[in-house]
Amino acid sequence: MKIVIIGATTGIGRSLAEFYAAKDHEIAITGRRTGLLEEIKTANTTSKIHIHEMDVSKTEASRAIMDELATLMDGIDLVIINAGVGFGKASYQQEIETVDVNARGFLALANWSYSYFVKKGGGQIVGVSSLASLTGSAYSPEYHATKAFMANYMAGLRMRSSKFKHQIVVTDIRPGFVDTPMTKQNKGMFWVATPEKAAKQIYEAIESKKKVAYITKRYILIAILLKILPEWIIEKFF
Ligand SMILES: NC(=O)c1ccc[n+]([C@@H]2O[C@H](COP(=O)([O-])OP(=O)(O)OC[C@H]3O[C@@H](n4cnc5c(N)ncnc54)[C@H](OP(=O)(O)O)[C@@H]3O)[C@@H](O)[C@H]2O)c1
Repeated sequence: MKIVIIGATTGIGRSLAEFYAAKDHEIAITGRRTGLLEEIKTANTTSKIHIHEMDVSKTEASRAIMDELATLMDGIDLVIINAGVGFGKASYQQEIETVDVNARGFLALANWSYSYFVKKGGGQIVGVSSLASLTGSAYSPEYHATKAFMANYMAGLRMRSSKFKHQIVVTDIRPGFVDTPMTKQNKGMFWVATPEKAAKQIYEAIESKKKVAYITKRYILIAILLKILPEWIIEKFF
């Protein structure tokens, strides 16, 4: 399979890159820190790995890079849009950056992928949103809002694919807590998964063409609670 992983330098994206490389898929990995992408390529000499610098907040440039990768790889079967930022108590500028990366950047790439797969006759788009998509947050309202945007956008793409028979599978990955550079400063985390465990479960969800998958699986219990509990209870935890 030919796979593009957006945001593969650290954390979940890096583990996914290593996981797919070990399975001998042809992968293209992107991120801003190309030195880290080089490390992954150097450590996996037997697999075909392309690396490309990409800042997803530069939306038009990112879409042009996807065109380049599709030509270079002679086709793409799966796009995993994992790039994301999350700040603790974000400044106004950080809130804007969160929207630029998690919402605008995501939209630019999900939109590119959908159009590409319509022309190709099918494919799979995976977006790494979050359990955070299900609720607001007193501490990082912008992060939760962007993740809700991603989840809702993916639901819309799924409906479009079904309605117009586009043969495009859209999988919304919703991690709970994973031990990555993004969560290093977090306090009060529970059921924390390693990035390797998260990557394995994400791989399984992609393979079985799930619409939505909670990572790790038991976070579905928290998802159910978030859907039924009133806001005054949820605000004690988020
Ligand atoms: N860790 C968790 O508990 C958790 C929970 C729920 C959801 N998630 C989501 O999972 C995804 C991966 O997060 P992570 O925890 O693995 O964090 P991470 O280790 O900080 O990884 C974030 C990745 O996104 C990339 N990225 C950030 N800004 C970018 C930009 N402007 N352009 C291109 N790439 C960019 C980073 O690459 P560069 O900095 O090199 O560009 C990096 O590869 C995120 O979308 C996050 O919201 C994580």
